[in-house]
Amino acid sequence: MRRFRADPLGEMIRLHNIWGDMVRIPVGSLQINLAGRPEFVQDFLVTNAQKYGMSPRYKAMKPLLGNGLLTSEGPGWLSRRRTIQPIFKRDRVSNWDHVFTEACEHTTGRLAKLPADQPIDVAKLMMELTFAIIGRAMFSSDLSTLSDVVYTNLETAMVEMKRRASARIKLPMRWPTPANQRYNKSIRNLIPIVEKLIKDRRAIPENQRPDDLLTLLLSSRDPENPDITLTDEQIRDECTTILVAGHETTANAMSWTWYLLSQNPDQGNRLREECKAVLQGRTPTAKDLPSLPLSEKVILESMRLFPPVWFINRIAHEESEIGPYHIGKGAIVVGSAWKMHRDERWWPNPLQFNPDRFTTGHDDNRHRFAYFPFGGGQKKCIGQSFAMIEAQLILISLVQKFAFELVPDHPVVPRPLVTLSPAHGLPMYVKTME
Ligand code: HEM
Repeated sequence: MRRFRADPLGEMIRLHNIWGDMVRIPVGSLQINLAGRPEFVQDFLVTNAQKYGMSPRYKAMKPLLGNGLLTSEGPGWLSRRRTIQPIFKRDRVSNWDHVFTEACEHTTGRLAKLPADQPIDVAKLMMELTFAIIGRAMFSSDLSTLSDVVYTNLETAMVEMKRRASARIKLPMRWPTPANQRYNKSIRNLIPIVEKLIKDRRAIPENQRPDDLLTLLLSSRDPENPDITLTDEQIRDECTTILVAGHETTANAMSWTWYLLSQNPDQGNRLREECKAVLQGRTPTAKDLPSLPLSEKVILESMRLFPPVWFINRIAHEESEIGPYHIGKGAIVVGSAWKMHRDERWWPNPLQFNPDRFTTGHDDNRHRFAYFPFGGGQKKCIGQSFAMIEAQLILISLVQKFAFELVPDHPVVPRPLVTLSPAHGLPMYVKTME
């Protein structure tokens, strides 16, 4: 466990290499099972999902996310998931394409003014961009002035979530330990942002409210009991969840994409040629995406090598079997996208960045759970279509105009917290391509 805590990514792969497809780590009375085959992950996420529930990892997120979708389960979760789901349908998300590309235009304007010898932290830039997009799309608000506050406090919250998830003894949040104080302070700085969004929206007459997530939540009713609306606390938890889950993950996916393209400039040039042939320099729309398949393959391949959510885990509510292995009640099962996406049994030459792996027909026999950046089963990411359309439009908008070059010798090290981000940021020079 000591080695695991020091280097979870390396240790995850090392342990599977030594012990095989199911690695059992006893930690006191707790049993942790690392599931290293796609069928095993499918088992606990889909086939026997009813036997498993939220692990301590999700409970450690509750002080910030409350009972939002990500951190809740059971009938209450299902009812809210059904309420929110329609807003994330691909057709509906496609209508926001102008929101995505307008935010990109703001970013390209900023980059165009940057002196060629002045690097910019692309990881931070992507956080600002995706935060602006989620603010516009979900809350019809310009949150750009708040992105620094959110960036710093969210980072603290994520460090503390990880610490809390792996702590043997979880002291109540009201105890003033240094870790609790840091976590509580970050929450105190983040929650009022969401509460203000809700308060401002309530001040608008119902028939004049914009058609977005916040209006949907304010007007939604319990399908079983139409007199019941969501409580203020439920609305706040859902909004915080979407605000956090809906920008940090995509920002990381984009940061790794720019890093990989900087290491593989020929793939960037291929992408530019595809964009030029289809768009001839104009702003892309969601309707263009089927004609720009390489942009999708680049994002998918980037999330293969650097999955923003690098592992998913669950706790067994009852005795179970995964393949030939017995899983005791109370045991933790872990499926790591980081490990699975780098396993050469499913991904030949796994460390090579090769978007063509995702060409239809290239390897259609690969198991569905050899690749699971968005999870699977009923708790699968609700924002998958949103994230893919957003990521492709960001990629296309920026790659047409710029190439990013990593500052020489900058150490690029993945930092495995709740999500996988570059530990020391990504300072890059911006090269204009027009
Ligand atoms: C590249 C970007 C993204 C990645 C890789 C990603 C990944 C994931 C994964 C793996 C899960 C499942 C977690 C589990 O089973 O324990 C998840 C859940 C979730 N994601 Fe995403 N996500 C992304 C973008 C988004 C966006 C854009 C939104 C919203 C706008 C979003 C909202 C959510 C929510 C609310 C959940 C919880 C769903 C539930 O439990 O019902 N995600 N995401």
